[in-house]
Amino acid sequence: MIWLRHCDILPIDATRQIGTWRGRGYMNILVINCSPVKNGATAEIVKLVSQYVNDGNNVKTLCIDDYEVKYCKGCRRCHKTAECFQEDDVKKIMEQYEWADRIVSVSPSYWADIPGQFKVFIDRCTPWCNTHEPHAAISSGKRGFTIALRTGPNMPECEKIIGSIEHFYGHLEIEARGHLGLCSIEYKEAVADRIDEIQAFCDLITNS
Ligand SMILES: Cc1cc2nc3c(=O)[nH]c(=O)nc-3n(C[C@H](O)[C@H](O)[C@H](O)COP(=O)(O)O)c2cc1C
Repeated sequence: MIWLRHCDILPIDATRQIGTWRGRGYMNILVINCSPVKNGATAEIVKLVSQYVNDGNNVKTLCIDDYEVKYCKGCRRCHKTAECFQEDDVKKIMEQYEWADRIVSVSPSYWADIPGQFKVFIDRCTPWCNTHEPHAAISSGKRGFTIALRTGPNMPECEKIIGSIEHFYGHLEIEARGHLGLCSIEYKEAVADRIDEIQAFCDLITNS
């Protein structure tokens, strides 16, 4: 097991595939801002991750707040049809997931949870959830990473957010391969002090 310096949370089995991707071509990497704030601390981390993983790869970012995502109505029609009756941007977002080999979700804590906008999106992914048949599916072999950040000092709240996102990955059959929790970050200015941790985590992403 490899420890990331200053990291409070371990990557999941980081030793498994270190170095196996380099030299084999490029990856498509999608970095998601799960916050509605387009220029805050989450956005700053998204920007840094995009730069650090760029080495020979195709990188795209998206901010959840740039898309129209209607609430799930809980009707369960999608359990029978594998699609939602509502028309909005969910399919556009899922096209980005389909494009990506690696998905990096960066989420702040809002009341000790993921922001509502991202939760609404997850709810609307029920047509892709593997607990019912038929269900829609994105291609297999994708790997997911999570960065959680918060203002408070304790890691369990970050772990809760990571748990929500990795639960989502699991039901879309995206393999969760690593996560990072960053406490004591309120505004983007605080991100500069955490660059070593973020860079080390990006090495994990590009080597997984
Ligand atoms: C509505 C709201 C609720 C928040 N709730 C918490 C919280 O429960 N615990 C915490 O540590 N930080 C909380 N924060 C702080 C954010 O996690 C923190 O500022 C984060 O670094 C930046 O988020 P941003 O990129 O969305 O600006 C909250 C912030 C907002 C706006």
